[in-house]
Amino acid sequence: MADNNKQRTALVTGGTRGIGRGICELLKERGFNVVAGYGGDARKAEEFTSETQIPAYQWDVADFNGCQKSVEEISSNHGPVTVLVNNAGITKDGTLKKMTYDNWMAVIQTNLTSVFNMSKACWDGMLEDKFGRIVNISSVNGQAGQYGQVNYCAAKAGVIGMGKAMAQEGARYGITVNTVAPGYVATEMVAAVPENVLEKIVKTIPVGRLGDSSEIAHAVAYLVREDSKFISGSTISINGGQHMY
Ligand code: CAA
Repeated sequence: MADNNKQRTALVTGGTRGIGRGICELLKERGFNVVAGYGGDARKAEEFTSETQIPAYQWDVADFNGCQKSVEEISSNHGPVTVLVNNAGITKDGTLKKMTYDNWMAVIQTNLTSVFNMSKACWDGMLEDKFGRIVNISSVNGQAGQYGQVNYCAAKAGVIGMGKAMAQEGARYGITVNTVAPGYVATEMVAAVPENVLEKIVKTIPVGRLGDSSEIAHAVAYLVREDSKFISGSTISINGGQHMY
């Protein structure tokens, strides 16, 4: 089913694995010209491209100049990026007592500064086009907090505030900016949580299970539709009822 009057180029950071992959696959199905970004795992990215036929580009979303350069290259190869999904993210969990400055900064740079870098790289093109859809992927942990994640929670809460400011700035130009806040989804990131800790977390999810990437992707697909133009500055929580916010 095509959702668009015009085929648009949609760029999904962290798009070759986990939730990002789910988003890429659904946007492709909906008729977008999808491009994925990835940070480091070239083997997974090759597998992804051969299985989905979606091109994947490598760069570091924490690097401002790298984002500018990659968006220019992608736009020249695939058309202007007017749909951006800021999904790339990492965890470096540890209690405040044990967390190093480097682990604090790495998560802030990759999960929060990246949203600035990527949105800035795409913003002027969206202004020119008088159309833009930005969806930032936050987390239930940015809403509710999580033991052992001061870095991640700060970044994911930051993304929500930033999205609301961007939504106000983009409104007059046909640019919408929204946030999706997933709960615990069955991805490699969540699988890295110690089993005994994860078991306890799953017990706090009323639906009684982890989410699936496709259950996050469909909200993103909804927000980037042409006719979702009155939805901006909103946050959609998808967490199986774990945190009602
Ligand atoms: N509330 C209160 N106390 C807690 C607690 C909690 N939620 N979790 C652990 N503790 C307590 C433990 O009971 C333990 O207490 P005792 O020493 O008295 O037994 C103490 O804190 C230390 O716990 P750990 O042994 O687990 O400490 P650690 O230093 O080995 O590990 C940790 C700490 C790395 C934070 C580990 O608990 C952990 O990995 N937690 C999971 C964090 C998490 O949920 N990350 C999400 C990753 S996925 C993601 O982020 C995606 C998304 O968007 C949802």
